[in-house]
Amino acid sequence: MVTDKVELDIEAIAGDGERAIAAAASTDELALVETEYLGKKSSLTRAHRTLGGLDPEARKEAGRRLNDVRVRLEAQLAVRRAELAESERAAALRADRLDLTEVIPAQVPSAPARGHLHLVTQARAELEDVFVGMGFTVAEGPEAESDWYNFEALNMPPAHPARGMYDTIYLDLGEPETALLRTHTSPVQVHLMEGAVRDGTLPIHAVMPGKCFRLDTPDARHLPVFNQIEGLVVDRGITFGDLAGTIQVFTEAYFGTGMQSRLRPAYFPFTEPSAELEITCTLCLGEGCRTCSHTGWIELGGCGMVDPAVFAAVGIDADVWSGYAFGFGIDRLAQMRHEIPDMRSFLENDIRFLTQF
Ligand code: PHE
Repeated sequence: MVTDKVELDIEAIAGDGERAIAAAASTDELALVETEYLGKKSSLTRAHRTLGGLDPEARKEAGRRLNDVRVRLEAQLAVRRAELAESERAAALRADRLDLTEVIPAQVPSAPARGHLHLVTQARAELEDVFVGMGFTVAEGPEAESDWYNFEALNMPPAHPARGMYDTIYLDLGEPETALLRTHTSPVQVHLMEGAVRDGTLPIHAVMPGKCFRLDTPDARHLPVFNQIEGLVVDRGITFGDLAGTIQVFTEAYFGTGMQSRLRPAYFPFTEPSAELEITCTLCLGEGCRTCSHTGWIELGGCGMVDPAVFAAVGIDADVWSGYAFGFGIDRLAQMRHEIPDMRSFLENDIRFLTQF
């Protein structure tokens, strides 16, 4: 009887254990099942302890059966544990998987935003076109210059009072060279003339666009870093009439037919006679406003006939050759044409401003 009872218990324990192992849904649950059916407090262990009350033969028999059940459950546990671990690993891999074909298209903007050239760059290109159309070539030069190119060759010897208008940033390259950030693009004229004399390639018909630097406080129509386009013509029989005609053609080509301009007597050390070119203020149309300092006119640049002292400095015979030069601020030309109240807008990088042009 006792043997039968043990027999029944053993079968019941084995059956419960097998069902629990099969039902475990995770390796964590399976660990709990293992403790419950094979641990120190499990019914299997407890059943082992009750064997003492049996006769030796029955105890041996029951012990063997209990051991069989333990071995069987352990084997099933191992199989189930391997199954669950495998499916858990697969689930983790699925969860961690980064599907680029799913995620990335949703994050890419439908059309990338396209930039465009800054208004000042556009103005420079347009001005080059106007002058190339009149037969000029385009030349460039360095932004850092020696005193010779920026001042001396242009008839501004050391301590010349006109240097005061061109205060700039000086670069310390060690004696004896004085270098500076160029205050105008006129030094390119000196390079061109020296080169033409050296190579015997006179005449010159060229424009020189580029960046210039002056110690100006930024305001509505000044920037300490700005752009100029200068022109230089050196040929036989060039007169002030050629200069005035070229400037008139340029003014209408850039600002529109009928645009008014005026040349006012002025002084530049490198031209004689010299003039300032002004056009009607495009913002107030001559009424007077903040941008034109209430004069109704906006100064665009200077011009004049190349001073014989400049020809002498570069070795051009002023009895054979004559020429004119002019220089405009590109930023200011663009400002005037597009009626931009404040030149500082060019540097602020405000996309609402930039995208208008
Ligand atoms: N270089 C002069 C300036 O920057 C402009 C200029 C050029 C004037 C050529 C006359 C002739 O002020």
